[in-house]
Amino acid sequence: EAKPVAAPSRFDFQEVAAGIDEDAHVADGYRAQILLRWGDPVFADAPDFDPYDQSPEAQLRQFGYNNDYIGFIPLNAAGTRALLCVNHEYTNEEVMFPDLPRQDQSAFFKDMTKRLTEIEMAAHGVTILEIERIGEDWVPKLDSSHNRRISPLVTEMGVDGPAAGHWRLKTKDDPTASKILGTLNNCAGGVTPWGTYLTSEENFHGYFWTDDLDAEDEPRAGIGGDQAGSYKRYDVPALWYSWGKFHDRFNVDREPNEPNRFGWICEIDPFDASSTPVKHTALGRFRHEGAECILNKDGRAVVYSGDDGKFEYVYRFVSAGTYDPEDRTANMQLLSEGTLSVARFDADGTLHWLPLVHGHNGLTKENGFASQADVVIDARLAADALGATRMDRPEDIQPNEVNGRVYLMLTNNDKRGAGETDAANPRPENVFGHIVEMAPPDGDHAAETYDWSLLVKCGNPHIAEVGALWGPETSDAGWFASPDNAAVDADGRLWVATDQGENWKATGKADGLYGVETEGAGRSSAKLFFRCPVGAELCGPCFTPDQQTAFVAVQHPGTDATEDYAPFARASTFHDPATRWPDFEDGMPPRPSVVAITKIGGGKIG
Ligand code: FEO
Ligand code: CA
Ligand code: CA
Ligand code: CA
Repeated sequence: EAKPVAAPSRFDFQEVAAGIDEDAHVADGYRAQILLRWGDPVFADAPDFDPYDQSPEAQLRQFGYNNDYIGFIPLNAAGTRALLCVNHEYTNEEVMFPDLPRQDQSAFFKDMTKRLTEIEMAAHGVTILEIERIGEDWVPKLDSSHNRRISPLVTEMGVDGPAAGHWRLKTKDDPTASKILGTLNNCAGGVTPWGTYLTSEENFHGYFWTDDLDAEDEPRAGIGGDQAGSYKRYDVPALWYSWGKFHDRFNVDREPNEPNRFGWICEIDPFDASSTPVKHTALGRFRHEGAECILNKDGRAVVYSGDDGKFEYVYRFVSAGTYDPEDRTANMQLLSEGTLSVARFDADGTLHWLPLVHGHNGLTKENGFASQADVVIDARLAADALGATRMDRPEDIQPNEVNGRVYLMLTNNDKRGAGETDAANPRPENVFGHIVEMAPPDGDHAAETYDWSLLVKCGNPHIAEVGALWGPETSDAGWFASPDNAAVDADGRLWVATDQGENWKATGKADGLYGVETEGAGRSSAKLFFRCPVGAELCGPCFTPDQQTAFVAVQHPGTDATEDYAPFARASTFHDPATRWPDFEDGMPPRPSVVAITKIGGGKIG
């Protein structure tokens, strides 16, 4: 149960001032080392980064774009050598490629080439890289045999669980539905207790293309044929990227089943660079934000995952088998079989987990679910049928092993109407988001019911109409909007990273990392520890087990529609970016980067 706390807040760092400028800022007394930038070498033979001479071949040897989740897997007892596993979620062409503005979507599509799409694909996926702490610095070990780039361009992945081999996953290139080329839009993730890396496929719908458009240039109604209901529920195809112009598998007119091969959780063994990652279909298909994994007290593995869409759901997977500390190979099968459930938050403070199991609760052939394969492929439709609670964009879901509770980031939902609020989503036009605390009974993460309560309602506490809820220690710098990723350090303290999208203009605050107290008199108080440069969101907070380093991922610096916010009143482009963080060199674009934060002179973070 909860640790007793003496002070109102356990965070005693000097808070950063709120604001927005071209640089990153960390609390006084701390040091922020730029560890890995887009284009930095992952292998000793990687070519030097040259933004004016990019190629898929170079990018496959270099750190990818838009770093998101960070997993830290120690290689020694002291935790001074480790495998850093980093997601590369997506690409921002307007600040990535010279002479390719993206403000006009149709012009952008016209200017894209097959080679540029292949650079983009190579910049997506995952990096696994050995690092070592030497003195104050973390140093990449470029000659490590563990180092690996995983991408949607070249990495073959396996598939298991109820949808493996199913006709809805079969394509011309893969008639047995057993080999999927790559992973994409890898947002958050998780590290398992047996030392594997979980990466989530989030906005996969955006990568699919059709030439079958209506008069408004939208995909024709009924597109998808027999699977039209599924296409519509998953917004497939959304045409965010032009990959399908050049690669048939991303064109649903040519490969109608390819979208069913994305939207999964993938497990990667970072200790074997030749291993084949596996998509575990038992965990369901949706826009997985993350996949934090915890061992339940009975030894079963539990994975929490949010579906990041307005009015989407919160899911939990509980493995059928139990963890065996002596058998890592067997543990790597734990996510192959188990029970996927979806959450219903009742007004009396009870959370019910509703199992998504074929043949039960109306998930039958008559209702469109011929087997468990249909249930997991169309997890959203199955969750609709069960009456799960429609949430305000569920992002990261973070279990806290110290206090036994679980923290759910609900980032925002400006589409919730005044008549559509409920106890767990209490504000209409929720532009600032909130955090829900979930409490399993006696720390049982497989229980059918939990208690739940609101921890924070985000936004400015000085504006009554915002309806914010913060603890008493929250300063003007400490309140925030749009919680996205979260981490818990070894002391059980909650840290929250924000992603306001374009909304930073409304708050006057850059995105950042905040300590949020969950216990005692200071409960729900927040403090600003690290602040992003303009246009960036903060991802992947990750604390080393000794709490001496916090890794953070600064994603898409210089982007997010800066047109009408002085002093950044212009559209950001490669040649005229809102910031050139972190290099600040003429001609160098802004670069998404992983930052290692340490205390000057040593000691625990925060
Ligand atoms: Fe990729 Fe939900 O953020
Ligand atoms: Ca995210
Ligand atoms: Ca997390
Ligand atoms: Ca987000």
